[in-house]
Amino acid sequence: MKYKKQDISRASRLSVAPMMDWTDRHCRYLHRQLSGRALLYTEMVTAPAAIHGDRDRLLGFDPAEHPVALQLGGSDPAELAQATRIGAEYGYDEINLNVGCPSDRVQSGCFGAVLMERPALVAECVAAMRDAATVEITVKCRIGVDDQDPQDILPRFLETVSAVGVTRFTIHARKAWLKGLSPKENREVPPLDYPLVIAMKRAFPHLHLSINGGITNLDQAEALLAEGLDGVMIGRAAYHDPGAILADADRRIFGAEGGRDAFAAVEAMRPYIETHLAAGGRLHSITRHMLGLFAGRPGARGWRRVLSEGAHRPGAGLELLDRALAELGRDVAAPVRAQG
Ligand SMILES: Cc1cc2nc3c(=O)[nH]c(=O)nc-3n(C[C@H](O)[C@H](O)[C@H](O)COP(=O)(O)O)c2cc1C
Repeated sequence: MKYKKQDISRASRLSVAPMMDWTDRHCRYLHRQLSGRALLYTEMVTAPAAIHGDRDRLLGFDPAEHPVALQLGGSDPAELAQATRIGAEYGYDEINLNVGCPSDRVQSGCFGAVLMERPALVAECVAAMRDAATVEITVKCRIGVDDQDPQDILPRFLETVSAVGVTRFTIHARKAWLKGLSPKENREVPPLDYPLVIAMKRAFPHLHLSINGGITNLDQAEALLAEGLDGVMIGRAAYHDPGAILADADRRIFGAEGGRDAFAAVEAMRPYIETHLAAGGRLHSITRHMLGLFAGRPGARGWRRVLSEGAHRPGAGLELLDRALAELGRDVAAPVRAQG
């Protein structure tokens, strides 16, 4: 199903963050089994990779993943425009520009968080992307980099970039230090500044602003939405404990029926896994994203152990999933129902 702009805005009330090596298509398919509503982001794909790389491998996705957004990395307007056209042809519901990722590789190509210093170039990039296709273009950014003063530069960044018609932003509520901190440290060390992001919503009420960074549960997400923010994006917590974040999201964040608990999601994954195995894929490519499904429950360690020890072995199949479920004391034949 193709989503309209207002439906995507609504879906972004709760989104799962773009995460390299993590939010691949198998991960997104799993997350979609838990929440029918949340907006899912791809890993970042650089514009040159989208143009010259193995497109089906980088951009292919299952229709069940909708609503799904493609995140692009780059700083060349013409390349980003071309990559946007390609992404739109693949059927993505949104195309997002990465202005937040601080890794060295990304810096060397002059894109990601370093672009916080060049709002006029970001505006040029998103203007070219908007001209290239009708799909909605959005931006994910930080509150600043290095010695920038976020109070000063963040409003100017939003003003400059929104002037070309981008109205939806996700703000990772901490700075990135481009030198001296690893990408991992850059997600932990610079302090979070939620009040600044909330202030941006008050200053720019016409913009759709989602907040990101350090949100670990739905109580926190609800509290931030109650502050007037339009959306909450969750990264690591959604990956490590998808059952806790996503299974209740449809009900609590979207006020809708639906969503599945972790056991029902495992059952829903079976046909998908079978198809993947039949096409010659490894079980591990899918189950590596399922390790956190039962986090905190009795038997969760056994579930993780059985899957992480066995799933990469050639020939591993659904019987391993059954053995892992048995660690949770689950009668494999027990019926499971969708929630809601
Ligand atoms: C493994 C990993 C990979 C990431 N890759 C990307 C990426 O490709 N693009 C991006 O904008 N942010 C990336 N991020 C940052 C997340 O999108 C998010 O902004 C950050 O983790 C803070 O949110 P959280 O505290 O909810 O995890 C990555 C984070 C992690 C943990």
